[in-house]
Amino acid sequence: MDTFAFRQPEMMEKLEVFEVDHPATQEFKLHRLAELEWEHPAKLHFISIDFTKESLVTALNNLSSYEPKVKSFFNWLGVINFLSREEAFATLCSITEIVPMGSMIVFDYLDTDAFVPEKMSPYIRELKEFLLKIDEPIIQASIHQH
Ligand SMILES: C[S@@+](CC[C@H](N)C(=O)[O-])C[C@H]1O[C@@H](n2cnc3c(N)ncnc32)[C@H](O)[C@@H]1O
Repeated sequence: MDTFAFRQPEMMEKLEVFEVDHPATQEFKLHRLAELEWEHPAKLHFISIDFTKESLVTALNNLSSYEPKVKSFFNWLGVINFLSREEAFATLCSITEIVPMGSMIVFDYLDTDAFVPEKMSPYIRELKEFLLKIDEPIIQASIHQH
C-alpha cells in the first residue's frame, strides 16, 4: 500500500495528492488508518475505483479538489500487472486527455519473458503463487505481446 502522504509531511503542504486504489484495497487501507488513529493530511484525497470497470478520468473530474489545468505527476507503480493490456492502455490514454503538457507518469510492468516457464525467475514464480493465493492474480495478458 502506498504511504507517500504519511511519509512526506513537508511535501503535503504544497501538493494535492489523490490516492487511487481498488475499492477492496482502499476499504482495507481506510480501516487500518482508522485503527491506527492516524490523521489524514488535509490535501490527501482518496479515490476508490476499479480500473477494469471505471475510468480514472471520470473519477478525477468528479472531484472538486482536482484541477485539470495543473501539471500532475502520476505514480502508477505496481498496478499494471493486475490489469489486462487493454485496460492498462485505456487508462494511460485517458490520462493524456486531461493533463496539461509537462505532466509526468511513472509506471512499471513485467517483461514479456517473465511468464515463459523456462525463463521465469524464482522471484516471479514465488510472487505469482503468492498473489494467486491472496486472490490478486497477476494478469499475464498484460505482459505478452499480441
Ligand atoms: C502492489 S500495490 C502498489 C501500491 C502503490 N502504487 C505502491 O507502489 O506502493 C497494487 C495496487 O494496485 C491497485 N489495483 C490492483 N488492481 C486494481 C484495479 N483493478 N483497479 C484499481 N486499482 C487496482 C491496488 O489497489 C493497489 O493499490
